[in-house]
Amino acid sequence: TQAVLFCSTLDIFPTLVSLANATLPPNRRFDGIDISEVLFGSSRKGHQTLFHPNSGAAGKYGEIQALRLDQYKAFYLTGGAKACDGSIGQEAHHQPPLIFDLQHDIQEQEPMDIQSAEYRSLLPLVNKSLMDILQDIVSDNVSIADYSHDKDVIPCCNPQHLVCRCESACSNLSLEKC
Ligand SMILES: *[C@@H]1O[C@H](CO)[C@@H](O)[C@H](O)[C@H]1NC(C)=O
Ligand SMILES: *[C@@H]1O[C@H](CO)[C@@H](O)[C@H](O)[C@H]1NC(C)=O
Ligand SMILES: *[C@@H]1O[C@H](CO)[C@@H](O)[C@H](O)[C@H]1NC(C)=O
Repeated sequence: TQAVLFCSTLDIFPTLVSLANATLPPNRRFDGIDISEVLFGSSRKGHQTLFHPNSGAAGKYGEIQALRLDQYKAFYLTGGAKACDGSIGQEAHHQPPLIFDLQHDIQEQEPMDIQSAEYRSLLPLVNKSLMDILQDIVSDNVSIADYSHDKDVIPCCNPQHLVCRCESACSNLSLEKC
């Protein structure tokens, strides 16, 4: 079987820098990787892990409580998201985490049995990946630029657009329609 290949929007910057024959600033680590060889078809090496910071639905905004590792996806936190009809899934913390095998369960319907040998061998790897990224974050240089209040970088509020599904959420954020 072919290994799962995954890429991220984080890769756009390092890839464009590479295609422009430039180099990334050396004094910080980047979460994205140069995937130009993947795009040109000469490599199938993407990320082994991806991290999913909380989007504000549940838990603390920006904290990492979900991650992908190879074909698996682990959740330490689920729920909290508000649907367009206003209903909210119950926030739930999972320790040990829920782990889904996306190769066999792409819809994340059935978490793996925590007693299974597969789960038990995965858990230390999931734990280590998370510990490593948290360590990486505290030990890295971070940008002090804050664009969070810059109107130009807030997504427009076209309700047909995936990021703006609820029209009322749009008007509550007082974003302009485009
Ligand atoms: C952070 O920046 C300083 C000064 O440029 C540099 O000495 C240090 O190695 C950098 N740290 C990382 C993790 O790149
Ligand atoms: C990972 O394992 C260490 C040592 O057992 C534990 O202290 C830590 O809480 C675990 N981290 C997570 C995210 O479960
Ligand atoms: C928008 O704000 C109104 C009034 O504060 C509130 O009743 C409604 O639930 C909000 N809608 C969303 C989607 O947050």
